[in-house]
Amino acid sequence: MVYGPAPESTAAARNWLARKPFGLFIGGAFTMPGDVFDVRDPAQDTTLAQVTQATAADVDAAVNAARTAQADWQANPALRARVLYALARQVQKRERLFAVLESLDNGKPIRETRDIDIPLVARHFYHHAGWATLLAEEFPGARAHGVCGQIIPWNFPLLMLAWKVAPALAAGNTVVLKPAEDTPLTALLFAEICLEAGVPPGVVNIVTGDGTTGAALVAHDGIDKIAFTGSTEVGQIIRRATAGSGKALTLELGGKSPFIVMGDADLDAAVEGVVDAVWFNQGEVCCAGTRILVAESVAETFRNRLISRLKSLRVGDPLDKSTDIGAIINPSQLARIRDLVAQGVAAGAVAHEGTAPEGCFCAPILLDQVSPANPCVSEEIFGPVVTLQTFRTPPEAIELANATRYGLAASIWSENLTVAMDLAAQVKAGVVWINATNMFDANAPFGGMRASGFGREGAREGMAAYLRKGDPAQGAAPGAIDPLPANGTPDGLDRTHKLFIGGAQKRADGGASWSVMTDGTRLGHAPLGNRKDIRNAVEAAHKASGWTKMSGHQRAQVLYFLAETLDHHRDGLAALVPMAEIDASIARTMYYAAWADKLSGAVHNTQSAHVTLAMREAFGVVGLVCGEEAPLLGALSLILPAIAMGNRAVVVPSQNNPLAALELGPMLGASDVPAGVVNIVSGPVAELAKTLASHNDVAALACAQPGVAQMIEHESASNLKPVWHAPEGQGRDWLEAMVQIKTIWVPYGA
Ligand code: NAI
Repeated sequence: MVYGPAPESTAAARNWLARKPFGLFIGGAFTMPGDVFDVRDPAQDTTLAQVTQATAADVDAAVNAARTAQADWQANPALRARVLYALARQVQKRERLFAVLESLDNGKPIRETRDIDIPLVARHFYHHAGWATLLAEEFPGARAHGVCGQIIPWNFPLLMLAWKVAPALAAGNTVVLKPAEDTPLTALLFAEICLEAGVPPGVVNIVTGDGTTGAALVAHDGIDKIAFTGSTEVGQIIRRATAGSGKALTLELGGKSPFIVMGDADLDAAVEGVVDAVWFNQGEVCCAGTRILVAESVAETFRNRLISRLKSLRVGDPLDKSTDIGAIINPSQLARIRDLVAQGVAAGAVAHEGTAPEGCFCAPILLDQVSPANPCVSEEIFGPVVTLQTFRTPPEAIELANATRYGLAASIWSENLTVAMDLAAQVKAGVVWINATNMFDANAPFGGMRASGFGREGAREGMAAYLRKGDPAQGAAPGAIDPLPANGTPDGLDRTHKLFIGGAQKRADGGASWSVMTDGTRLGHAPLGNRKDIRNAVEAAHKASGWTKMSGHQRAQVLYFLAETLDHHRDGLAALVPMAEIDASIARTMYYAAWADKLSGAVHNTQSAHVTLAMREAFGVVGLVCGEEAPLLGALSLILPAIAMGNRAVVVPSQNNPLAALELGPMLGASDVPAGVVNIVSGPVAELAKTLASHNDVAALACAQPGVAQMIEHESASNLKPVWHAPEGQGRDWLEAMVQIKTIWVPYGA
């Protein structure tokens, strides 16, 4: 079949662009243009417009405008609902202009902007208009963060804006948004419709510019929350830059998502799945299924069908309605793609390529015969390039799927739902599509694990990320410890405690201890743990994976048993903490025993003929840094929700009085808490917490020591683990902080 050209008219978009150059949108009006830079059309290699490079002073003006507008905006949920609804309607009224402008600016096919990006943008504003109405009822006691700084990438410019702006506004925040320097145009058009939709001045501010503008926004003292989507490297920079600032943070970063084809999959459907997974949006998709893992039994058939499909894809003019793959965002991204493919081929890959015209275009590429060490298997390419590996058994498929530092998405193809769900449960990814790929909805949480970042966007979970309860605690880090001589106990006390690691009491690696004093009385000696002890504890916790697989009911029984054991040991504990604290500790243990089988996930209402699950999954191994208040109750306040939800924990107890927590060790064993589920390492809190924060095998941290918050947030950037600043208390929030959401899409139909 021969296709004739089917171009979409660009007249309206070019007419709109004729008003260039553009200023910034601050306080409800456009500023005069400042220093400008060119915005390019990657397909035509022409300049579309000139926009302003916002300076730190511009960012300051935008943040101030947002701050001024915030209180009134938060106070008026009915207005917020009306305005969000009006924004949805305005997007729909201008949908063709938005779609064309987006295609011109980004190079993506008009078919995708028209049928996917812009309808989803409208959907987000409708959905969040509803949240503005329901907020008080559904999130009692929560309030907006205040002013949100939002930084977005170039691959889904307006859609990412909608994902960020809609929930922020619904929650009562005001925003300063920085679009990517390659694609600021639809954000500027959006600024115009803010005026038409009655967005009060200062509620939405748009500052254009490059990474320096983004960095100024991140650094600004007037920002209460940063929401970022982009590369993992910049995500890490932002994590470090915001450490200790009290700014809330969500990061949606890169990915290298597996696309698993089981032997019983519908292969034709799976081939179309690959087209949607990695040849959609030029492969410039954070959750693109870029690693095909196919069962050896069907690999040849699948490969052949895929190669023939790849050759049929049309690459070229984004404004042509029959184009499948448009232009790459810019020449340097194209060069990066080509360089990585060349490296992959040099490392032994066999490349199958489609065709593409001259210019900033890349043909679809399948890299076959890749070894796990091939750079194209590990590096995020962000282009229309997919690798193919084979496997023999489901465990091998999972091993390959999880052999990446990322954890954003996964696609699983099998006609056997039992097998597919088994793989979905094991794959390390925030979003899993079964017999589908790249499905999105405003009411489905989206976000990653590991180097793909933390936090969720969309649905109730995404709303929660724009709300805050209470204020962060303040306090100084505990000071240095004076160790006792390695031999003997010069103060004559024979009461020595040990660390608790892997279900056994252990001497500290260095053999040293220190005197624990309260009110001038020496309570005993605590073992002086070090980095090696923490590493041993993490290893022991990893081995205790059986705890995570147990049912909530089984864990509840163990926690009830622990409450009983604590009750039996009242007298011994009374030498270390007041009786009231012991009573509260027993009550708290009963409380979390009650919760262990009750924190359910959700089935979200998304598209028809779909079950969209939001499963609550344990992180695995978590670090718990206890505070100095109530040494026994404080330790249990972190340990109990963590283990009730199926995590295994490495606990750093209070530095001033770690003895009561250390006494817990043998009691845990006596209560059938399996070895390795809770490990307790006492010592200098700052040093031990730093080891936990930088440890790559610790998936999340809860910290009740405000004095070390800055340090651990900074250190945690290495593997992007979420850090939760745990207030004193108990409740559902404590449990929710100890789980991460895995969204599983299961389409159905006979
Ligand atoms: P990037 O992470 O540099 O840019 C994303 C946004 O962050 C842009 O608005 C940029 O101006 C801003 N930014 C850059 N440096 C910043 C800083 N220090 N502080 C605050 N904001 C800053 O991504 P880039 O350079 O556009 O693409 C590089 C690679 O990142 C791509 O090849 C791809 O692998 C990956 N990427 C991933 C995305 C995702 O959705 N996960 C989106 C875009 C790129």
